[in-house]
Amino acid sequence: MYSEKVMDHFMNPRNVGEIENADGVGEVGNPQCGDIMKIFLKIENDIIVDVKFKTFGCGSAIASSSMATELIKGKSIDEVVSLTNKAVVEALDGLPPKKIHCSVLAEDAIKMALMDYAKKNDITIKGLENFKIREHEH
Ligand code: FES
Repeated sequence: MYSEKVMDHFMNPRNVGEIENADGVGEVGNPQCGDIMKIFLKIENDIIVDVKFKTFGCGSAIASSSMATELIKGKSIDEVVSLTNKAVVEALDGLPPKKIHCSVLAEDAIKMALMDYAKKNDITIKGLENFKIREHEH
């Protein structure tokens, strides 16, 4: 049911933890399952130099956040804005259809962290002007 990559990122999640004085913090939760994901970003010259996450949630949410942090590390803000949950699912070699929404949590948490960074620095990030958290349904 789950790919080897999902199992690997679930059993050995990368980049777990918090960043003190993070430049951007994003937290999203799913009211239905109660899962919560928090992403911390360290940003220098528009590059994500470090990223950590804390996920209180299902295995797919943990694997998705772990993979998502790997995908955005070292990338520019521009590149990260265009990262979708689909890319995370592909990098994980797929998720069961009922678990796709868990990857949406990762995309949204990252975008929330970028919004937080934009707000703190009084800037607008291209592509996030109309960002809204999607309904996360089961
Ligand atoms: Fe709620 Fe996966 S995030 S079940």
